[in-house]
Amino acid sequence: MEIEEVAAAEQVVTPWEVSAPDGVIDYDKLVDRFGCQLIDAAIVDRIAHLTLCPPHRFLRRGIFFAHRDLNRILDLYEAGEKFYLYTGRGPSSESLHLGHLIPFMFTKYLQDAFKVPLVIQLTDDEKFLWKNLTIAECKRLARENAKDIIACGFDVERTFIFTDLNYVGGAFYENMLEVAKRVTYNNLRGILGITPEDHIGKVSFPPVQAAPSFPSSFPHLFPGNDQLRCLIPCAIDQDPYFRMTRDVAPKIGFQKPSLIESRFFPALQGESTKMSASDPNSAIYVTDSSKQIKAKVNKYAFSGGQASVELHRKLGANLDVDVPIKYLNFFLEDDDELDHIKKEYKEGRMLTGEVKQRLIAVLSELVARHQRARAQVTEEMVDAFMAVRPLPNMFG
Ligand code: TYM
Repeated sequence: MEIEEVAAAEQVVTPWEVSAPDGVIDYDKLVDRFGCQLIDAAIVDRIAHLTLCPPHRFLRRGIFFAHRDLNRILDLYEAGEKFYLYTGRGPSSESLHLGHLIPFMFTKYLQDAFKVPLVIQLTDDEKFLWKNLTIAECKRLARENAKDIIACGFDVERTFIFTDLNYVGGAFYENMLEVAKRVTYNNLRGILGITPEDHIGKVSFPPVQAAPSFPSSFPHLFPGNDQLRCLIPCAIDQDPYFRMTRDVAPKIGFQKPSLIESRFFPALQGESTKMSASDPNSAIYVTDSSKQIKAKVNKYAFSGGQASVELHRKLGANLDVDVPIKYLNFFLEDDDELDHIKKEYKEGRMLTGEVKQRLIAVLSELVARHQRARAQVTEEMVDAFMAVRPLPNMFG
């Protein structure tokens, strides 16, 4: 198995750390290093054509920018074969930040566009192993996070949400064992940077994240359909897990899962730091009030504008490092308005304060909408999504 170290000299991208010291992640380099492919305009057009849905702004704007074997999934879909979606969340904190919402918003679009089933893994076991949390707390967080995920609008007729601590066993566990038997300690060291001093829980976990890529892990959903293809939407930090999974898949008689991978939604301070639950000022959370959003954006969002108004009018803003523009790129739906703001700001006619004001409005609306949707999610709804049951109309 060929699994490379994922830490480049000047930027680090692992499932636990994402940072670029100069404030800009070099995604081309990352794609090169990881060995995935870029998503080009032809693929975006193809998805729109096949689904008869306008492409999501995350696709139009190259936010979901890389893939593995996406064309294979699309070829088969065109020929009438369906697939299933798999994504997940490690429930390490009470509230999600906006970055965590990105793959779920996108997965919701994919589910609606392709009309396919979806499995969502909540890795409460992973967070117990990596964080200083009790099992009971991880279980509680998984349920709370499930509410935020459900609030993204998933279709209960096509979606199965599970927590590892509840669901692992039976066919799922069999697949974990098949994976575990084919990954060496040296492979893992390369993928995840595990050292001999780490506890062995970290060595045992990766097969748990691999197993949902194989349909037989869900006998209640895909009985007798072991060759059903799987597509995994996630940010590129999860790629190491799935390089491992893809390497093992043919050895145990399964199809390799395909991936569709996004860039990172950056911290308010820019791409040189990570959004962190321990620093509430590094991120906007789905629980923030509009007052908090306003204060955080105004105070902490890193500006690519100039030091004085005079200089700014003369030189304009550096959009490559400007966080308000990066955030608008993710969340402002209107392409024309976004282009207009970028042009005016870059050429110095718009000031940072004005861009921030627009961003505050966009984020406040988004977060308020999420909060309203989440308030409607009941314990019964969580139970319904988590029930181990067949989904008879999942391809309908
Ligand atoms: P977790 O909880 O760290 O992250 C959940 C999902 O959010 C993505 N993500 C981001 N996307 C854009 N910008 C960001 N700043 C950002 N931060 C996180 C992650 O890539 C992920 O898709 N081990 C996983 C849980 C998991 C999983 C999966 C994720 C289990 N199976 C399958 C994706 C696909 C974890 O701890 O994710």
